[in-house]
Amino acid sequence: MNKKRFLLLASMLLIVALVAVGCGTAAAPTPTPAPAQPAASTDLTAKVDALQKAMDVQTKIINPSTSTVMMEYNTRFASTWYAAQAQNWDLAKFEVEEMGGVQAVAENTRPKRAAALQAFKKASLEPLAAAVEKKDKAAFEATYDKTIAACNACHVSSDKKFIKIQRPTQAPASSVDYAGQK
Ligand code: HEC
Repeated sequence: MNKKRFLLLASMLLIVALVAVGCGTAAAPTPTPAPAQPAASTDLTAKVDALQKAMDVQTKIINPSTSTVMMEYNTRFASTWYAAQAQNWDLAKFEVEEMGGVQAVAENTRPKRAAALQAFKKASLEPLAAAVEKKDKAAFEATYDKTIAACNACHVSSDKKFIKIQRPTQAPASSVDYAGQK
């Protein structure tokens, strides 16, 4: 074998070897994937779960219950009546809007009541707000009575039949002049 042929053969062998190494790298088995839940992250998940549970308990204890929210709901609803009687439609509007805010609290603190409260808002609070907007006392009173019926219907379906709402016969606060400031 002369030198030229030897060099040719050697470089061909080198190319073959390089290709083989290249293919080898490409075909190398992919590393085993890391386990989906390595130990450290399992610990973290358990900690987050425990924290979530603790927060749920706090939410229940610290935040107002349905009953607390209902007391405010009740006062604002009665105030709406007296505001309408005094034709103070701005106050009536304010109270109905605040009722929406108050119920949002209960929707968050007592999520199991959220659907029923939202249904009540749509079927009762929104028509009540519309009646207030019209500034028509007779229309307002008719809608108010329908709303009372809806309050009581929810008390029945919530196993609270003993809580019965009616038209108020006394203003919730003697310190408030429901006619407002002229
Ligand atoms: C989504 C259902 C629902 C609707 C709508 C509803 N209530 Fe209630 N209400 C309840 C439940 C449930 C309770 C009992 C609270 C509890 O179990 O802690 C309650 C309790 C009350 C209480 C008694 C609170 C107490 O602790 O003494 C009053 C007053 C009250 N509601 C007024 C009203 C008025 C006024 C309306 C309508 C404007 C109304 N509620 C609409 C579900 C509802």
